[in-house]
Amino acid sequence: AATANYTFTVQSMKINQLCNSTDIIAVNGQLPGPTIDVFEGDEVVVDVINASPYNLTIHWHGILQKLTPWADGPSMVTQCPIQPNGSYTYRFNVTGHEGTLWWHAHSSFLRATVYGALIIRPRNGTAYPFPAPDQEVPVVLGEWWSQNVVDVEKDAVMAGQLPSHSDAFTINGLTGQLYQCANETFTAVVQPNTTVLLRVINAALNTHLFFKVAGHNFTVVAVDACYTANYTTDTLVLAPGNTVDALVYTGAAPGSYYMAVEPHHTLSPAATTDASDGGSVATGILLYNGTSATATPAMPAMPNNSDSTTANDFYSGLRGVPAAVPSPVDVNMTIQLGLGQLPCDAAQTNCSVNAFAAAMNGVSFRLPTQMSLLEAQFGNASGVYTADFPDGVPPNGTAMVEGTKVRSLPYNSTVEVVLQNPMAFPSESHPIHLHGFNFFVLAQGLGTFAPGNASAYNLVDPVARNTIAVPAGGWAVIRFVANNPGMWFFHCHLDAHVPMGLGMVFAVENGTTADSMLPPPPADLPVC
Ligand code: C2O
Repeated sequence: AATANYTFTVQSMKINQLCNSTDIIAVNGQLPGPTIDVFEGDEVVVDVINASPYNLTIHWHGILQKLTPWADGPSMVTQCPIQPNGSYTYRFNVTGHEGTLWWHAHSSFLRATVYGALIIRPRNGTAYPFPAPDQEVPVVLGEWWSQNVVDVEKDAVMAGQLPSHSDAFTINGLTGQLYQCANETFTAVVQPNTTVLLRVINAALNTHLFFKVAGHNFTVVAVDACYTANYTTDTLVLAPGNTVDALVYTGAAPGSYYMAVEPHHTLSPAATTDASDGGSVATGILLYNGTSATATPAMPAMPNNSDSTTANDFYSGLRGVPAAVPSPVDVNMTIQLGLGQLPCDAAQTNCSVNAFAAAMNGVSFRLPTQMSLLEAQFGNASGVYTADFPDGVPPNGTAMVEGTKVRSLPYNSTVEVVLQNPMAFPSESHPIHLHGFNFFVLAQGLGTFAPGNASAYNLVDPVARNTIAVPAGGWAVIRFVANNPGMWFFHCHLDAHVPMGLGMVFAVENGTTADSMLPPPPADLPVC
């Protein structure tokens, strides 16, 4: 295994998008930022230099961070932010899984433009569990905001509202030619009669996405950098945070094909189409070598924006590779986690931050301000958090409380979490992301979870993931082994829901051996 060194300079830059020159924050003057491309087992060292005017951190989404919790990155969970003119070096190993992940800013809304791909290849001497592709193409799907995203978030929080919508979607930073004033279109030139591996990432802030390529099917081989059984489909569905590795087989004849991305609106019962972005489709082009670049590309038929059937079929159709899944007798604790969003009316007097707040088990999560949770855990500091995150869903009508509440997990405990979305409108699909672990998705379904659903658990070849889209008006059950001491954020990956409080933190305790204890913080850990 080798060490891969990167320097990320985070700074303002001007970009032309939708007929306007706009200032954004980006890494090394690129959108998307640089791709980290390494082999499983490598050490990655990234010097992050904050030349932007904002506090920020970088998170390596999906990296297991075994015994390197100080490199995980969520602001005020594992570190204080890097202040303007500050720097911090993230050091971690890329072990335990292969495929496509990504990195992004993890403070305020900065990840709108501070993101990039993170590719983990099979280590030397090993191969993909599928025939090697002839070509690989990262396809990073994003959301474009014409306004300053930090202001968008601040305004929304202060006004107690959901933020306004983004102005366009992007493929590798480009909106594509179907938008008015589109600057450029991402074009992948491919050879006829070959296999192309698309590494697709949903880096959008707040939007579930459908992705298609005209005239081609996908063979999904991995999600969230965990291999799957081959799964053939013409539509990829990605919640914010999700990645999909998919093979595309090119045909013999010349051709030009749009790849297209559109929002999937998950509100249930299906809401009226979202007027602000419901019709927008970002496009790129899959261009066979030898085809005229001016040929009109074929356009795929896109699903309806509110087509949750396609999404549910995709998610529940995926199978992992046969794995040693912790059996029910091994489960040390089952946590019922009710997701809720509700307006703070007179009955919810504790909602001081937002007029519209969200909670898990009735607790609207607030980040600490004086020091990070991990520093408090390591130093046994009191007054930073409380370890009384409730185990079950509070009875109907209970007012939500604000708090920095964590759930302690003994080292190596096997944890099952039953995630339940509300039944009543507005229910929407929340992509719940766990830091520091992959989990198995045992089952998901519509309606209210009942103990009898356990008979449908897949304990043979469940898909492994780091982000699960809990269906609107439905539930999902996951299992993981808490074998990594530290503070691990478990939150909705719709960025708008984080300041609203839709998250909690697992505090995994130390084990008893030297290789199961929190390491001390690095010397350059930023201070608050
Ligand atoms: Cu990709 Cu806590 O985030």
